[in-house]
Amino acid sequence: MRRTLIAGNWKMNGSLSANAALLAGIKAGAGKARSCELLVCAPFPYLAQCQGELAGTAIAWGAQDVSEHASGAYTGNVAAAMLREFGCAYVIVGHSERRTYQGESSEMVAKKAARALQAGLIPIICVGETLEERQAAQTDAVVGKQLDAVLEALNDEEVGRMVVAYEPLWAIGTGVTATPDMAQAVHAMLRAKIAARSAAAADRVKILYGGSMKPDNAAQLLAMPDIDGGLIGGASLKAEDFLAIASASA
Ligand code: PGA
Repeated sequence: MRRTLIAGNWKMNGSLSANAALLAGIKAGAGKARSCELLVCAPFPYLAQCQGELAGTAIAWGAQDVSEHASGAYTGNVAAAMLREFGCAYVIVGHSERRTYQGESSEMVAKKAARALQAGLIPIICVGETLEERQAAQTDAVVGKQLDAVLEALNDEEVGRMVVAYEPLWAIGTGVTATPDMAQAVHAMLRAKIAARSAAAADRVKILYGGSMKPDNAAQLLAMPDIDGGLIGGASLKAEDFLAIASASA
């Protein structure tokens, strides 16, 4: 049985004071969401704050990107080992905003995922299609190729430790969400691809849905057999909404 993972992606939002209030709110209400695992992915400068506030609680924290390199002359990059030092359990890799604005290729995303796993971090590997690609019936091909690059870079044991997030680009931050059936179809396709590589891994790997997941649509999405949680952007910045989504998974 895969335990539901509700992950907040704060993106480039927050401040020391806003985060303190948000984390206090999540901590206060986390008891009601005990059946699922809660995670917040914060900007790098706030990882120490997350560690300070969340160490010893059931709430995990993580980062939003990691370097594909172990260390060295890579100005501005952050290494997986550094994230581990700040207690991160997870790191998002290949979010569509990084693929789009930072030009990250699927091959680079795969290298980042491998580096994260080697350092003991769980990568949340994001895949997703644009509206044009969906309209051209390219969803499976595009998303499948993004996953293939990762499968090629990882060994079977590593595949079993990754998390995948299906995030259709047209649903991110738009208020438009994939219907539960649309999302389920892509999740099932992704799981079948993982199963072709390793049946044991396919059984274990969590596939999250992301893209305008909110308290009022979460229950239907999370009820689908291959949707194992959510990667939440906007709604993760309000403790009440984030916790309501987590409660919807019960
Ligand atoms: P959203 O973002 O929930 O604001 O649509 C999701 C994401 O980009 O991870």
